[in-house]
Amino acid sequence: MTMQDKVKELLELRAKARLGGGEKRIEKQHSQGKMTARERIQALLDEGSFEEMDMFVTHRCANFGMDKEHYLSDGVVTGYGTIDGRLIYVFAQDFTVYGGSLSETQSQKICKVLDAAMKMGAPVIGINDSGGARIQEGVNSLAGYSEIFQRNILASGVVPQISAIFGPCAGGAVYSPALTDFVMMVKGNSYMFLTGPKVVKTVIGENVTTEELGGASVHATKSGVAQLVVDSEEEGLQMIRKLLSYLPSNNMETAPEVECNDPIERVEDYLNSIIPDNPNKAYDMKEVISSVVDNGEFLEILPQYAKNIITGFARMGGMSVGVVANQPTYMAGVLDINASRKGARFVRFCDAFNIPLVTLVDVPGFLPGTVQEYGGVITHGAKLLYAYGEATVPKVTVTLRKSYGGSHIVMSCKQLRGDMNYAWPTAEIAVMGADGAVEVLYAKEIKAETDPQKQIEAITARKDEYNKLFCNPYNAARYGYIDDVIEPRNTRYRVIKALQTVSTKRLENPAKKHDNLPL
Ligand code: HXC
Repeated sequence: MTMQDKVKELLELRAKARLGGGEKRIEKQHSQGKMTARERIQALLDEGSFEEMDMFVTHRCANFGMDKEHYLSDGVVTGYGTIDGRLIYVFAQDFTVYGGSLSETQSQKICKVLDAAMKMGAPVIGINDSGGARIQEGVNSLAGYSEIFQRNILASGVVPQISAIFGPCAGGAVYSPALTDFVMMVKGNSYMFLTGPKVVKTVIGENVTTEELGGASVHATKSGVAQLVVDSEEEGLQMIRKLLSYLPSNNMETAPEVECNDPIERVEDYLNSIIPDNPNKAYDMKEVISSVVDNGEFLEILPQYAKNIITGFARMGGMSVGVVANQPTYMAGVLDINASRKGARFVRFCDAFNIPLVTLVDVPGFLPGTVQEYGGVITHGAKLLYAYGEATVPKVTVTLRKSYGGSHIVMSCKQLRGDMNYAWPTAEIAVMGADGAVEVLYAKEIKAETDPQKQIEAITARKDEYNKLFCNPYNAARYGYIDDVIEPRNTRYRVIKALQTVSTKRLENPAKKHDNLPL
């Protein structure tokens, strides 16, 4: 063979590999509105930056006549490239080859990418589209999954891991995405569940469709498994690029700072009148967020789940920040099990990757009742408390209105090592609201008053007294629990100044094997 022949052979092999499971199966993939694995990677990474690895890998299985059929790349495309010029490792399962099912060799390819990402300190993006364990390979496939899971676990908190679910993801296979930092699903074309509809019917007699059991909307609203949901793969791949722009490449770095063309001293006069006079009336916290962050840009995480708390990424003065805020328009912004879990996971992610936290507080308390107590709101609420308490990143908190009792503490109070805790003049920082306090403190006195009119007057007088004493920011400020009471319209400037000031913060938790947070 001449050298030219050898080069020709190489090019032919490459072309063959790029065809995956063949043109017919690619057509089927396209007809379902799905891209192929290589198309997805091309759309995700900077143009021309993808370097494929292990293109010539094939499976080694001989069961069921498999030794007579080999596809180059073995159902997963792996390699590296860049996003906004930064190194990224990627793997994308190729459904056109044995339904993207996981073989021993496919697992080895994915593990190689995970190992390299750890060594190089670069994020990993996994695009999942697979029928699960390759049935013909039996336990070798299970072992392959386990190898991946182990690496996901070790990479957690070291490099960002993002999972896009662009097709089926079932059985134990869901645990790799579940171990990563962010799970994205595409509406209508992806699903995730541990046991499929047929097994559900057999075991518990429940009739349920694939979409009802594990579609994108289910995981975006009910389970909270999918932090990001998109209408199309193209939209999803662009969103991953955006998400990465807020993140550092690894836990030893800080997120890239971008030039800020939005003046940091921008004043928002309307914030001085956003809080309604009636304490029971709501206002939209998202308006506050978009008016204080750079250019109003906010990438919300889990927007449809536990809407009483808002979590997401933004920039302030060009710095990447994680925003956590209570939402008065939904369940009055009360904290409950789901909101606590959502908030805690987000806070822990930001802390693991050196992203400062900006917390906007308007919280009436924890949701009372048996449903919450039986569901373990004590443990779940403690997760958020723990997350804020262990976080060593810069923490700036602004209390806009209510901040009562346990929920005051949990929402990044001063004693949880808050760096700068501000309050608006409308803040009410107290053990509880006036209604509850008067009920407890003056029950006997009020009951003793037999004239109903006088009774109302007595209640009002006691509430006024309580409100004057406690339902303001100055009582907390008097003790230094609030660093300053600020004009709402200056919030952007004050928060950015605070973030700039504490950006050199150094704080370490005591050495330990690992913590034992209330899971
Ligand atoms: C080997 C598989 C496969 C698998 C699909 N294929 N799943 N090959 N192992 N697990 C092959 C099919 O034989 C077919 O080959 C091609 O992929 C496309 O599959 P279709 O069924 O034609 O596609 P579609 O109709 O879109 O259905 C997709 C599907 C279905 C819903 C995912 O294929 C399916 O139910 N697959 C099995 C799912 C499953 O039970 N997996 C094991 C779960 S247990 P041809 O040659 O026709 O193109 C598990 C344990 C993991 O994963 C544990 C981890 C700890």
